[in-house]
Amino acid sequence: MPLRIDPTATIGRINPALHGQFIEYLGECIDGGIWVGPDADVPHTGGIRQGVLDALIELAPPVLRWPGGCYADTYHWRDGIGDRATRPTTFNENFGTYELDDHAFGTDEYLRLCEAIGAEPWINVNMMTGTPAEARDWMEYVNRDSGTDLAEQRAANGHPAPYGVRFWGIGNEPWGGGGTMTPASYTDAYRAFASAMPRFTGSVFETPAAYPIASGPDGNKPRERVAWTREFLRSLTSFRQPPIAGYDLHFYNWNIDHEDDTPTRFDQAGWDRVIASSLELEEVIVEQWGLIQEGLANVPQPESSLDTRLEHLDLIVGEWGNWHRDAFFVRPALRQQVTMRDAITTALSLDILQRHADKVSIACNAQTVNVLNSLILTDGDATILTPNYDVFLMYKAHRGATALATERVDPASGAHVFASVAEDGAVLVNLTNPSMTEPVEVELEFVTPMRLERIETLASDEPTRHNTAEQPDAVRRVATMLDGAAARTHTLRLAAGSVNVVRAV
Ligand code: AHR
Repeated sequence: MPLRIDPTATIGRINPALHGQFIEYLGECIDGGIWVGPDADVPHTGGIRQGVLDALIELAPPVLRWPGGCYADTYHWRDGIGDRATRPTTFNENFGTYELDDHAFGTDEYLRLCEAIGAEPWINVNMMTGTPAEARDWMEYVNRDSGTDLAEQRAANGHPAPYGVRFWGIGNEPWGGGGTMTPASYTDAYRAFASAMPRFTGSVFETPAAYPIASGPDGNKPRERVAWTREFLRSLTSFRQPPIAGYDLHFYNWNIDHEDDTPTRFDQAGWDRVIASSLELEEVIVEQWGLIQEGLANVPQPESSLDTRLEHLDLIVGEWGNWHRDAFFVRPALRQQVTMRDAITTALSLDILQRHADKVSIACNAQTVNVLNSLILTDGDATILTPNYDVFLMYKAHRGATALATERVDPASGAHVFASVAEDGAVLVNLTNPSMTEPVEVELEFVTPMRLERIETLASDEPTRHNTAEQPDAVRRVATMLDGAAARTHTLRLAAGSVNVVRAV
C-alpha cells in the first residue's frame, strides 16, 4: 500500500514557536560558548561569538528561553546588569558546571542576542531563592517604557526602549531541583508570583500582553506526571485563578542505563533503543493535553461579571532532547557530541510536536550550544554545526505550515512520516528511515498529481560519525533538485539512518 498524503486532512497550524531553543549557564553553553566577551581574540560581535551568532541568524529560532532551567532558580537578575567590571562573582554549581560566574552575560546581553537573531525571549524567573518582588522588578526593568528608576536604569544600560518581553516562566521543575515542591505548594507560590506581575496596560479592562508560564510535570515520570497535572489544575482552579497562559512540561530522552553506550560509541541495540524511547513524547503530549482539558472542564463558574474564568491553557514542552549518560561525567559539564542517532530523534521529536500542532504551542530544544542535544558545539576558536542544526534548518519550512494527518509510520517501509502544507502551498513530507543499516523504498501517493521539486537528505554511511573542528562537515545535509513530471505516485529511496524532507508542488 502506498503512503497517502492528503492536503485536505488538516490538523492545525504549526506555531513557529514549536522550533524554540533554550540556553542556560551550564557547562559551556553561555560562558565560553555563546559568550566570549568583548576582549576575546575569537571573532565576535559585542562579546557574542561570531560563529554562533551567524548560525543563529540563519536558523532564526522563533523563541529563545533563558536563564534556565535549574540555573534560573539561583539567579538574581540584578547581578547581571550594568558595568560588567562591577558585577558580582558567584559560584555556579548547577549540573556539575562548577565554575565561577561573573555574570557577564545578563539580561541586556541576552535580550540583545534575541533582537539580533529575531527570537522572542522567554525569561524564567527565580522562584526558589527569589521573591515575587524581585521578579516584579525584573519585569519592570525589562518592560516599563520610561520614568521609573528601573526603566531609567535600563536606558542608562543602553536600551531606552522597553524590550516588550511577553513570555515569563514562573519556576522551573518545582517537583525536583526547583524546590522539591508538591503541586499544591507550587500552585500557592505560583499564585503569588503571577499575581505580582505588572500589567503594563492603559486601563484595568485591557488584557495584559504578558504570557505567564507555569511549570508542568516531569514528562519522564508516568505516574507522577498524571498526578501532578491533575493536582495542579485542581488547586489552580479551586478559588479564583491567577494569570496563566502556558503549562510547561519537560521531557528528556534518557540514555543513562548502559555504561558502554556513549554519544559516539554505540551498537545497533543502542541505536534502536534511543530512537524508540524518543517516541514516548507523543504519549506524554496526548495524555497531558487531555488532563488539561479535564481540569479546565471543572473550573467553577464565576459569581460576578467582574471575575474571569480560566478557559484555556497552552501546553508547552519547554525542554526536550537526548540526554546520554556521559553528559554527567564530562567537562565542560553536559557536553555531548551529536551523531545521526541524535539527528533522527531530533527529527522524530519535531515530527511529534508538529503533528500535535493543535495541542502544543511552544517547545524548546535543550540546549542550543555545547549542552545536551546541541545544535552548535564550540571548540577553541571553532564553531561546529551538529547534524541537529541541519535537522532544524531542514524543518524550517514547516514553521507556520498546516500539519496534515498521515500514517505515523509507513507500514510498507518502516519510515517515519510527517507532512504539512507550507504557507506557499507546497506539500512538505518528512521521511525518516530509522534503520541503522538498511535503505528502504517509500511509495508516496498524493490525491492529485504533484511534482517532486526537491529532496534534502541528512545521512551518514557511518552511524557514529560526527562533526568536529577538524572535520566540520562530516555529517551534512545534501539538497537535490528533482526534475520529474507531476504524478500521483512517486517512489523514493531513503538511505539507511536518514532524515529526508521532500518538497512537492
Ligand atoms: O537542560 C538541563 C537541565 O535539565 C535544566 O537546567 C533543568 O531544567 C533540567 O533538569
